[in-house]
Amino acid sequence: MEQTFLMVKPDAVQRGLVGEVVGRVEDRGLRIVAMKMVTPTEEQGREHYAEHEDKPFYDDLVEFITSGPAVPMVVEGDDAISIVRTMIGATDPAEATPGTIRGDHAVDIGRNCVHAADSPESAEREIAIYFTDDETEDWERVEEGWLYE
Ligand code: RTP
Ligand code: MG
Repeated sequence: MEQTFLMVKPDAVQRGLVGEVVGRVEDRGLRIVAMKMVTPTEEQGREHYAEHEDKPFYDDLVEFITSGPAVPMVVEGDDAISIVRTMIGATDPAEATPGTIRGDHAVDIGRNCVHAADSPESAEREIAIYFTDDETEDWERVEEGWLYE
């Protein structure tokens, strides 16, 4: 069982695509164990994209991700990291296969609807930017059965 980090970016929230992304994750059989709506702070945005610090598009990237509400989530399942990466499609929507989220909903590399972690290390790091341990452990109460008592 693996956890990954997935975020509906501000462009897709603005366009009303939260349900579309959530529905795809649930339909696939992955489990959303934590989710919230939040406008990332400058600090969260800089940390989120720290790996791109030296790239020419870094400042634009941080400005965009902090520009409005986004929906970060923790998604769990066998091979969740690679499955979710495949579901979101290529970074450049022009190269994203139809059937992927970007291939069906995006045309602009800077407005490509979703972010997903690309390795176990980045998943753990990115989850910690947006969620406390308490928030990601809430789901355990469902497994304990309170929902069905
Ligand atoms: P993400 O991190 O958002 O899930 O996207 P990704 O892994 O598919 O792509 P990554 O290489 O990590 O790039 C992060 C985001 O930076 C923007 N980007 N712009 N102008 C450019 O050449 C360029 N390259 C990347 C994209 O918005 C990408 O999602
Ligand atoms: Mg990336």
